[in-house]
Amino acid sequence: EKVVLAYSGGIDTSAAIPWLKENYGMDVITLTIDVGNERDFTVIRDKALKVGAVKALVVDARKEFVEDYIWKALAAGALYESEYPLATALGRPLIAKLLVDVALAEGASAIAHGCTGKGNDQVRFDVATAALAPQLKVIAPAREWGMTRQQTIEYCKKYRIPLPVTARSPYSIDENLWGRSCECGVLEDPWTEPPADVFAWTREVKDTPEKPAYVTIGFRRGVPVTLNNRRLDGVAMVSALNEIAGAHGIGRIDHVENRLVGIKSREIYEAPAAVILLKAHAALEAMTLAKDQARFKARVAQEYADLIYNGLWFSAHKTDLDAYLKNSQKYVTGTVRLKLERGAFRVVGRKSPYSLYSHGLATYETGDKFDASAAVGFIKLWGLPVRTQARAQTLKTE
Ligand code: ARG
Ligand code: SIN
Repeated sequence: EKVVLAYSGGIDTSAAIPWLKENYGMDVITLTIDVGNERDFTVIRDKALKVGAVKALVVDARKEFVEDYIWKALAAGALYESEYPLATALGRPLIAKLLVDVALAEGASAIAHGCTGKGNDQVRFDVATAALAPQLKVIAPAREWGMTRQQTIEYCKKYRIPLPVTARSPYSIDENLWGRSCECGVLEDPWTEPPADVFAWTREVKDTPEKPAYVTIGFRRGVPVTLNNRRLDGVAMVSALNEIAGAHGIGRIDHVENRLVGIKSREIYEAPAAVILLKAHAALEAMTLAKDQARFKARVAQEYADLIYNGLWFSAHKTDLDAYLKNSQKYVTGTVRLKLERGAFRVVGRKSPYSLYSHGLATYETGDKFDASAAVGFIKLWGLPVRTQARAQTLKTE
C-alpha cells in the first residue's frame, strides 16, 4: 500500500516517513509543493529519498495558487475577522488537491500531512480530501503519535534523519505568496510585543526609506494585471508587491483569532502584497459598484472568508458564491494609485472607464448638474415617517 505525504523537509514530516512505514506498513511517496515559500527544493527531495521515501516529487504550483486561489480571495475581499488575509488557509486546499491528484495517479490508498490535532490546518486537509476523493484515507502522524518535540528529535536520531544544522526557529512558520504566518514561542503570550526575529518579510519602520513610494495597480475585472503600468503575471505581481511594500514596513498583522476547533490563538502575519491589493481592489469597487451591490458584497466577503478559514474551499456553497463574485467583478476595471510611507499606506487616486463617480453631480464648483431643488421633495418623503412618529410618540427612553 502507498501513501502520499505532504513533505516540507522539516522534523515532523521527515519523522513521518519511517513512522508511516512502521505503523501502517505503507510505502511513502513525498510531495513537496512550491506555493512561493522560497526553499531549496532539490535539497528537500534528496532528503526525502535519504530518509526512506520510495519516490519524492516536487511541484511548482505558484501560478495555480495565484490564479485559482489568491485572485478569488482578492475579488471577494476576504479577510478573516477583518484582519487575516488567509494565506495559510488558502494554501491548504491547493496542497490537498495536489496530494489527491498524485494519490490517484500513483494508485495510493491514503494521503498524509504533518498537522497537529488542535489546529485549523488538519480540518482543511481532511475536508478537502473528503470532497475530492472520499475513498482516500487521511493519516496525520503528528496528530496520532503524541510525541513531544524532544521525543520527535530522538525518533529522528534513531532513524538517522538529518536534523537541521541551523538553530531551529522558536516559531511555527508557514509561508506562501499571500503571506507568512508565525505562532508559538513567546508569541503565545498575547501581551508580549513580537520580537524583531519574528519578522522576515517586512522592515521595522525605523529602517524604512524616508522617501515615500508610489505604486500604481491596474485591474481588469477585479484581477490585478499591471504594476506601475507594466503588465505582470500573477506570481510576479504578488512577489513584486511583497518586496516593495515589505521594504516600506507594510503588512504586519498581530491577531488573536478564533480557530475553528474552539481555541483562541495569537498569530503574527506578514502580508505586504495582500494588504495593498485588498485595499486597492476595495478602492476600485468603491468607485464602480452601486451602493447596494457594495453593501451586499461585504456580507459575501465575510461568508467567503469564513468558508476559506473553515476548510470549505471545495464545497457547493463556495462555487455558488463564486458565480456571484465573478459577475460582481464585471466592471471592476481601472487603476488605483497608492502612497507607501513609513509602515503605512493610503490610496491616493483611482480611475475607471466604468466609474460611477460623476464630477458633474459631485462638484460644488461651476458645472453642477445636481438638481438641489428636487432635494426638498425627497427630504419631505424621506422624513415623513419620522415626522409622523414624532407627532404621535416621544423619543425618550423609559
Ligand atoms: N492561524 C492561521 C490559519 O489558521 C495560520 C496557521 C498556520 N500557522 C503556523 N504558524 N503554522 O490559517
Ligand atoms: C497546526 O496545529 O498544525 C498548525 C496550526 C493550525 O493548523 O492552525
